[in-house]
Amino acid sequence: MSAALKLNEFNLLDDAQCDARIAAAKNILGKKLVILGHHYQRSEVYKHADLKGDSLMLSRMAAETEAEYVVFCGVHFMAEVADIVTGGRRTVILPDLAAGCQMADMANLVKVRSCWEELSQVLDPDACITPVTYINSAANLKAFCGSHGGIVCTSSNARGVLEWSFAQREKVLFFPDQHLGRWSAYKMGIPLEQMVVWDFTRPRGGLEPEQIRQARMILWKGHCAVHQMFRPQHVDEFRRQVPNGRVISHPENALEVCLKSDRVGSTETILKTVRAAEPGSHWLVGTELNLVNRLAEEMKPKGVTVQFMSPMVCMCSTMFRIDPQHLAWTLDNLVVGKVVNQIRVPAEVAQPARQALDRMLAIAQ
Ligand code: 13P
Ligand code: SF4
Repeated sequence: MSAALKLNEFNLLDDAQCDARIAAAKNILGKKLVILGHHYQRSEVYKHADLKGDSLMLSRMAAETEAEYVVFCGVHFMAEVADIVTGGRRTVILPDLAAGCQMADMANLVKVRSCWEELSQVLDPDACITPVTYINSAANLKAFCGSHGGIVCTSSNARGVLEWSFAQREKVLFFPDQHLGRWSAYKMGIPLEQMVVWDFTRPRGGLEPEQIRQARMILWKGHCAVHQMFRPQHVDEFRRQVPNGRVISHPENALEVCLKSDRVGSTETILKTVRAAEPGSHWLVGTELNLVNRLAEEMKPKGVTVQFMSPMVCMCSTMFRIDPQHLAWTLDNLVVGKVVNQIRVPAEVAQPARQALDRMLAIAQ
């Protein structure tokens, strides 16, 4: 049997050479292969995706695919979700294993378990708290939620998930993104005074027992550094310069930015909203740079102006790790019968994680 092709050799190819190899491999693999691409992928990779979407759409697409190989152009937690929802019946591949998510890394099982343990010194968490993990989290945190009556959410269904969660129990522990949790709860009408932040670096989250008893939302102190680059003053400045302009943001932004936005939504919502905008309109967009740059180019001929929210260049550097060289390498290996960079979630984690994901998928967006 031939050995796996070496990545080093693919790193010497330019993008055009990779494009040709990717196209040829797709042709050979045909229906055995599906390439999923998140909206934050750089254009040189995004153009090769068969299906594109936000996290929720991609997890639904993965669950429904008949293809033998699912090559995920996204980040690690997305590929894990694809493996879990396909029940291990598909081979899921992440072209670069270093494509993680720094926000997902802000929570881990040891810290979440010790949070649960510390909460149990104040109340009975299994009786009164629904754990909710943002899909941007490791599979074992989804498993934690699955086995504690909890659920997963994405940026597009967080509201529905929270409604479900509060129907189960009176409180929610939301991790790892405090901002998505705060915004979604706020939009449901939960006052900010009923939300506390769990600082996982401090004993008992830095909270007094009474604060925990009073809180309805316990927000993990995690965030996405990319989205923290967008500040309320960027919106104010835009409003001064373009009084009729419109502002749209991702819910990973701080509450102050979301409050100043005309619309807040997932990457798919952002794309849909701006694509439907009237010619002559001017949009300020608070999300990842690759998405915004591509949208700006797409909308230019339609007379719609799209502007990035921050004066700084901020993009998701881990999404950016997937490049045409890694994609060509994984596909050419499949052509010669080799699977490289497979993502496989162990059954004992996948099973309870699937419970939490299935609860989410049962909730309409
Ligand atoms: P979406 O689910 O909106 O695509 O967001 C994923 C993400 O990681 C945003 O930073
Ligand atoms: Fe994670 Fe932020 Fe990148 Fe989204 S943009 S994948 S939350 S690091």
